Amino acid sequence: MATNMKISVAGRIKDESFAKVSFKGKNEEGCVIVEGKNRTLEIKLPEKINWRQATLIPRQIVFFAKKNGIKKLALDWTAVKDLKLGEESAVAEIFAVNFEMANYEFVAYKETPKEGWKFIEEILIIADGKAEIEKSIKRGQLIGKEINSCRDISNTPSGEMTPEVLAKNAQDAAKGTGIKVSVLREGDMKKMKMEAVLAVGKGSRQKPRFIVMEYNGEKKGKPVVLIGKGVTFDSGGISIKPADGMPEMIMDMSGGASVIHTVALAAKLGIKKRVIGLIPAVENMPSGESYRPGDIIRSMSGKTIEVENTDAEGRIILADANTYAEKYEPELVVNVATLTGAAVVALGERASAFFTKDDKLKDLISEEGEKSGEYVWQLPLWDEYEAEIKGRNADVCNTRNRANSRYGGSILGAMFIYQFSKNFPSWVHIDIAPRMTATQDEFLSAGATGTPIRLLIRLLEKY
Ligand code: BES
Ligand code: ZN
Ligand code: ZN
Repeated sequence: MATNMKISVAGRIKDESFAKVSFKGKNEEGCVIVEGKNRTLEIKLPEKINWRQATLIPRQIVFFAKKNGIKKLALDWTAVKDLKLGEESAVAEIFAVNFEMANYEFVAYKETPKEGWKFIEEILIIADGKAEIEKSIKRGQLIGKEINSCRDISNTPSGEMTPEVLAKNAQDAAKGTGIKVSVLREGDMKKMKMEAVLAVGKGSRQKPRFIVMEYNGEKKGKPVVLIGKGVTFDSGGISIKPADGMPEMIMDMSGGASVIHTVALAAKLGIKKRVIGLIPAVENMPSGESYRPGDIIRSMSGKTIEVENTDAEGRIILADANTYAEKYEPELVVNVATLTGAAVVALGERASAFFTKDDKLKDLISEEGEKSGEYVWQLPLWDEYEAEIKGRNADVCNTRNRANSRYGGSILGAMFIYQFSKNFPSWVHIDIAPRMTATQDEFLSAGATGTPIRLLIRLLEKY
């Protein structure tokens, strides 16, 4: 739930209701609460701090304050500066983003406890020369709040977050920003021959939608097109998933949710670029109407897709979305998807996988991933892999065409999407399955992380 936390900058501490924050002991992680006139939160820090660990400092502050029922905090900015994390404005922004992210919990479906929720109400930053950091804090708060709205969409169960409701969320996110939102329905998609999106959506009573968001931060110039997987629930379809872990698949639209809120944020931050967001939204369900293993789909591009496994549905809907993107003549296309369990096997839960043939873009993404605190790691997309997804009776196959192995599953997913991306001057696919949910040690509430909004915003600003 988005909270109403106030972050302000002042010359001195207001009163005794504020707990003070201090940093201690550069070796252990954790926190000590010192009782006194002003309670003090002593945050213990690791020896060496990189950008990602820097994001954990503000989160720890909020986490331990919440745990101890503290609602107002005072943070001496000189103590932060002494940590020598980096440029002051960048640090202020990171602190604000992560104060917001750590203060988030998904409580929409829970009864409010008698004593109320333990959210932080106010953070006072004690600093002179406040105008400087005030701007960065405002910006950081805006980013943090947008990320939390994205987490709300992801965390909302699929019974409520249907393709239609996802489209409504895109419209709401765009309110007052000047972004144009259009929503294609089944009939529109039929006319456009988006048979791939329609095939995946066939098994569900919840009809598919194709969400288009257009932000024109400049009049001319080629746009960046962001495309997010919007599978509002992934049961696997006829190739049904095992029961373990299936509830997590309410978050299979996290790529789509991140695109919705990145476009909204680009507008709110006034980024001077044209940014298009495309979200194919479907529910992948088994029924008498479902698409089947063995089916062949004629995608919007004309390429035919052999369905080996109905659980490899994300790449199928992205095929049509990428073809649709061609009409914008984009300078760059970014696919964001919770695409494969294999990406989690390859990288663990700490980094998303990304794939591109553009080496300059690779460097930019690696660098901005590091600075934003969102770890990403490149996996290969060598042409040799293409042979493994050739169809038997169709042009391409949606999983390995020798069904007897799971080797390189994440790469094959990327290779499949790449088949529909060859007309773009630059293209990257980010498989965010590893970062879909928070790990226990990153001081975020369990559930959706809102990845990779922080990275995408930096990418839009730097590209
Ligand atoms: N949505 C899943 C991938 C996923 C798994 C996301 C775990 C987040 C956490 C995707 O649609 C899927 O089911 N992929 C299959 C592909 C396979 C059938 C080739 C997978 O990863 O097992
Ligand atoms: Zn999926
Ligand atoms: Zn699936």
